[in-house]
Amino acid sequence: MIRRGLTPEELSSLEEVVGGAHVVTAADELTSYTKDWTRDLVHAPAAVVKPRTTEEVSRLLGFCDGRRIPVTPQGGRTGMSGGALAVHGGVALSLERMNTIREIDTANFVAVAEAGVVTQTLQEAVEEKGLFYPPDPSSRGSCLVGGNVAENAGGPHAAKYGVTGKWVLGLEAVFADGRVTVTGGKTRKDVAGYDLTSLLVGSEGTLAVVTAAWLRLITKPAAFSTVLAPFGSLEEAARGVVEIHRAGLVPSACEVIDRPSVEASSRKKGVGVPFPAAEARILLDFDGGSDEEVERDVTRAGEILLEHGALDVALATDEAKRRTLWEVRRGIAEAIHDLGVSIELDVAVPRSELVALVEGVRRIATAAGLHPFCYGHAADGNLHVRLLREGREEAESRRIEEAVTAIYAEAVRLGGTITAEHGVGLILRELLPLRRDAPFLSAMRAIKQALDPNGILNPGKVLPG
Ligand code: MLT
Ligand code: ZN
Repeated sequence: MIRRGLTPEELSSLEEVVGGAHVVTAADELTSYTKDWTRDLVHAPAAVVKPRTTEEVSRLLGFCDGRRIPVTPQGGRTGMSGGALAVHGGVALSLERMNTIREIDTANFVAVAEAGVVTQTLQEAVEEKGLFYPPDPSSRGSCLVGGNVAENAGGPHAAKYGVTGKWVLGLEAVFADGRVTVTGGKTRKDVAGYDLTSLLVGSEGTLAVVTAAWLRLITKPAAFSTVLAPFGSLEEAARGVVEIHRAGLVPSACEVIDRPSVEASSRKKGVGVPFPAAEARILLDFDGGSDEEVERDVTRAGEILLEHGALDVALATDEAKRRTLWEVRRGIAEAIHDLGVSIELDVAVPRSELVALVEGVRRIATAAGLHPFCYGHAADGNLHVRLLREGREEAESRRIEEAVTAIYAEAVRLGGTITAEHGVGLILRELLPLRRDAPFLSAMRAIKQALDPNGILNPGKVLPG
């Protein structure tokens, strides 16, 4: 792989744009920009450059394009597909200083946020005004709006509200050659020309650098409640999820979690959870316009779950209990990360195939002598499977790789996908043909060629090599 360094003269040109204090080259300061949350991957850029304005991003890209310097956009570096790693060296373009919420328009229910705004900060700011921005990746305390847009991030509440892209009305973005475009704005409907907003959402920094987003808001629901139901197995829990939806209920979040995942997270957080011995559990959130409405849904959900194999049902209406349950859920990824290097899968199938997927994962893992951690956004048929690689011999590592490929193939066979919300990034690019046919891939290449003819934007990502 060709890595691109930077000459002293190139470095001073970058410094001229953003100021010397915002170009980082010292090894110790670079460290945190060499990794994200993907396995143990480390790739150092030659420099991290931190612009403050769209105009600076434009000048930086124009310069880098002219010199054929690779540019890897970086947000909160919480991604799990290696999308923010500077595999070709060059410049890591950190959007962290572009962290202004430009506007919260309470008449039109729109927030305009720069790419570097932390997702949870945006959520709290709009909630202060009685509004609600639902997309909530588990990393919402540290991931950035720009990264969410780039990866089309999901999260637990995508069950009811959908992924990030559903909330994006328009983007301010800078093309590889430095030209700035605005793809939409506050209007709810706008079919003037190609839907560039949707093209850039989920393009993982390979087509343009997103600098700001117009995000749709809704009224904050008035009532919330959480239901927890233990099951004897993950398969039974998955069946419960299908039944809840078959009955027409729409939980705002609907997670399945196996015992090892809960144990890892509750141990790390030092908090106990109800039903600690249960092999699996469903965690459901309901929200709505009134306590009565939510209570009706919760009662019905409890009945259905008990009819379909739940060993018990517990309710958490008070905020502190709900928070603890969700903290344990959101902490799973980090807790498993602490146990050692693991391979993380983010497969999804049509919801009706979730039980088959869970059975398939179990079959493949058992045959390979592996003990996976399984949890995920069950309403979306989205299962995260983690296989610990730490401390395993070479031959075992090969077995893990084979199991991983078999799980991807199984998800696709069931009509599903190899990534639901983490993106292709670095780790899945060679597996993309499993999911996308040749005409699809050639359309992707043509778009890339048209928007980034010199291939400077996030090289080595998404497209197979
Ligand atoms: C989550 O669901 O917690 C995130 O997608 C991260 C992960 O896959 O663990
Ligand atoms: Zn997830």
